[in-house]
Amino acid sequence: MWLLQNPERIPEVARTAVLNNAGGHVNHSLLWRAMAPGKGGEPTSALADAIKRDFGGLEKFKARFDEAGEKSFGSGWVWLARVQPDGGRLQVCTTSGHDNPLTQGHFPILVNDLWEHAYYLKHENRRGSYLKGWWPVVNWEEAARRFERSDHSAERDWEDKGGALLAVTV
Ligand SMILES: [Fe+2]
Repeated sequence: MWLLQNPERIPEVARTAVLNNAGGHVNHSLLWRAMAPGKGGEPTSALADAIKRDFGGLEKFKARFDEAGEKSFGSGWVWLARVQPDGGRLQVCTTSGHDNPLTQGHFPILVNDLWEHAYYLKHENRRGSYLKGWWPVVNWEEAARRFERSDHSAERDWEDKGGALLAVTV
């Protein structure tokens, strides 16, 4: 995570390769935690209120997320992210390759993988059906936890403490 937030500290000769690999690791770590068996349903608490405020409701948010994911060209990721570190609104965005919204100062709340390897075995090239079929395994508790975490993002280590990578960082 630190690498993604401090690219200027990586030697230029290795910067692109390091960022691609670090981004792939970070994004997949977020993805694994965004899902769990027997989950799905609806978000609760502050995240539910924010989704209603910024998208007009859960179904409208899902439709926008699916549409953005389907329209995104090539390999990448689709995100629910909080626009600013401190109390910003929610937005749906996509990134290409292994880019992460953190590099633009946006806090990732929920993510799905748009690389073809994520869905080809089950859905072949039908990315839209893959995106629609993903919601029943979304772990809204984890998304809500990340949303609450984003309130404290003024702290210098806002992403490291309780952030995406605590469980996978050795
Ligand atoms: Fe992937």
